[in-house]
Amino acid sequence: MKKVLIVGSNGLLGQKISKLFSLSKIYQFLTASIESESYVDDVDYVQLDITNRKNVIGVVEDFEPDVIINTAAVTNVDFCETNKEIAWRVNVKGVENLAYAAKIVGAKVIHFSSDYVFDGKKGSYTETDIPNPASYYGRTKLASENVLKISSLDYTIIRTMILYGVGKNVKDNFAIWVYKNLKENKSIKVVDDQFGNPTLVDDLAYAVLRIVEYDRNGLYHIAGSEIVSRYDFAIAIANQFGFDKKLIVPIKTAILKQSAPRPLRSGFITLKAEVELGIKMSNVRDGVKMFAGQLQNYLNE
Ligand SMILES: NC(=O)c1ccc[n+]([C@@H]2O[C@H](COP(=O)([O-])OP(=O)(O)OC[C@H]3O[C@@H](n4cnc5c(N)ncnc54)[C@H](OP(=O)(O)O)[C@@H]3O)[C@@H](O)[C@H]2O)c1
Repeated sequence: MKKVLIVGSNGLLGQKISKLFSLSKIYQFLTASIESESYVDDVDYVQLDITNRKNVIGVVEDFEPDVIINTAAVTNVDFCETNKEIAWRVNVKGVENLAYAAKIVGAKVIHFSSDYVFDGKKGSYTETDIPNPASYYGRTKLASENVLKISSLDYTIIRTMILYGVGKNVKDNFAIWVYKNLKENKSIKVVDDQFGNPTLVDDLAYAVLRIVEYDRNGLYHIAGSEIVSRYDFAIAIANQFGFDKKLIVPIKTAILKQSAPRPLRSGFITLKAEVELGIKMSNVRDGVKMFAGQLQNYLNE
């Protein structure tokens, strides 16, 4: 039985991957994240800080995984812009530590990167387009890719974007933020000049399972099947739940004066992943429908 270590298992993506591996029953897996307890029920869990090399080596040597899946990261892009040292320590040095430990036991590493490695001037992007990050978060993600590229490890890098879904104690993602505000009849300002593929986190978790199953290496762009503006994504959420669309006010990114620059014309072409992994990613309407069902179950739990 292949042994898989899932790092960052308490995050949005980490929880989904952990649950999927738990359901599949064909892998022996261990989950690990920075908190003292697991947010996913009925899985083996160990506390792990990826910035602590000794801690990383200890966990990896004990479990001896064949595959390490790393979802741990500092993901708040504005926080990264103003807390560069922390962002680098987790997003780059943390990956160096995992790569170091992976080499000791001969494990492969599956790691997540972002569309923020691109400047967003000419999306949509394929795997062969040249990165040019505009934000510090984007720079850390590109540097983390390079850690694996220059290692002698087997690796898979998955670039993704605009993850949405539900999970225990996870930070509000865009879809949840829109849902919560519209439900309370609160007006929200949403940018209509940022484009990308909203990605249902369940679809991405399934793609990861395929990557492990098919033992695929290299770089993949994996995201939802449709490129839309944030404004149109918010409208799709309002439509799904029957909320008042007039509460969503379109604005331009420049007006928000956020710390980190955003790639405006982003978006991924995901053909390579679809063909090589045999996956079909949800479009916005179907993804939001599934999200709504999960949210209902989650709120009733
Ligand atoms: N969310 C998106 O829209 C998006 C878009 C593109 C790419 N990605 C990438 O996809 C991956 C997963 O994202 P996500 O949305 O699931 O992120 P998330 O929900 O923020 O999960 C990341 C997890 O890593 C944990 N973590 C932080 N520092 C750690 C450390 N030193 N050691 C161990 N764990 C640590 C976090 O704990 P705390 O919460 O306690 O910090 C959190 O549980 C990341 O690599 C991210 O860069 C995400």
